[in-house]
Amino acid sequence: MQQMKMQGCEVEAIGINYKIHTNKTEHPFKIFSKSPQLDNANGQEIEEEEEARVEKSCSGVRHVLKNVSFQARPWEILAIVGPSGAGKSSLLEILAGKHSPQKGSVLLNQKPVDKSQFRKLSGYVTQKDTLFPLLTVEETMMFSAKLRLKLPQQQLCSRVKSLIQELGLDHVAGTRIGDDRVRGISGGERRRVSIGVEVIHDPKVLILDEPTSGLDSTSALQIIDMLKVMAETRGRTIILSIHQPGFRIVKLFNSLLLLANGSVLHHGTAELLSLNLRLMGLELPLHVNLVEFAIDSIDIIQQQQQQQCQVETEPPRRLLGTMQQKKGGDDGQQQQSGESKSD
Ligand SMILES: Nc1ncnc2c1ncn2[C@@H]1O[C@H](COP(=O)(O)OP(=O)(O)O)[C@@H](O)[C@H]1O
Ligand SMILES: [Mg+2]
Repeated sequence: MQQMKMQGCEVEAIGINYKIHTNKTEHPFKIFSKSPQLDNANGQEIEEEEEARVEKSCSGVRHVLKNVSFQARPWEILAIVGPSGAGKSSLLEILAGKHSPQKGSVLLNQKPVDKSQFRKLSGYVTQKDTLFPLLTVEETMMFSAKLRLKLPQQQLCSRVKSLIQELGLDHVAGTRIGDDRVRGISGGERRRVSIGVEVIHDPKVLILDEPTSGLDSTSALQIIDMLKVMAETRGRTIILSIHQPGFRIVKLFNSLLLLANGSVLHHGTAELLSLNLRLMGLELPLHVNLVEFAIDSIDIIQQQQQQQCQVETEPPRRLLGTMQQKKGGDDGQQQQSGESKSD
């Protein structure tokens, strides 16, 4: 583990498939969906079909992540982007060891890792801040430090002080966190405290679910800036999900993972995403954010990728056709050679 701390952790996900079972529940509007005029046999058939459709929509298995693979390197930030419901939080929960996928694996420096070991090496910041509103910033950090570290009191104090400084929270160290009822620190500061609680043990991997949601653009940029510094000075591997990142924020990401409907549409740098979109005939309009444009173009990207897959699977079919024609006799062969000439 000491060696991992020195060299940093490369996180690799391979072919993650995650399905959830939704409960079989009676459709709440089932009685209203019945049509009273349907008396004849044809009407009954339609009614049965409708019932089956409603049943299907209320029960069964939901494929949340489909064959998701990616790599996140130390000293870098990987941003998971995509529309709401794409599977970003589910993927992060799997990485953080909260859920187990049915298929696929997560490797750390090319080795499988068990959940308890990974928890010691990582920090996971959830989308919602779960802090005690009546504690001050310093007390909150101290509480986390005592839980996570086995160090003498003096060392704990100095660790907390230096982290508060690193997070830019000196000016509010003695202020209580607060919530909707009790006024406390600002939303951006609260988010910094949540991050601080999860990095007190100096984890090599930091996972954050939408660390900028609900913040104004300046506070959002400050948070990502701070994470960038953490990655670059401590060799941390940072994996975060983000919704609508601004242009200046996108520039700070080393790579992007574009998810849609649980599938990966892009994994690589922002420049590569821009190039791929251009190759698909999707020219980025002036003054439009690249990630926003990519999310708006998801339907077209999916269509193009499906067409590409079909083209890739076509040659074997053609070959099969050729073989069948060959079996059929010389006529077929001539026809095939004619075809290839016209190609
Ligand atoms: N426990 C669950 N019960 C029902 N649906 C779920 C559950 N977990 C995830 N989902 C569904 O999986 C999809 C992905 O969810 P999520 O990972 O939260 O997406 P995102 O974070 O990208 O908005 C959504 O359609 C969501 O409704
Ligand atoms: Mg989410």
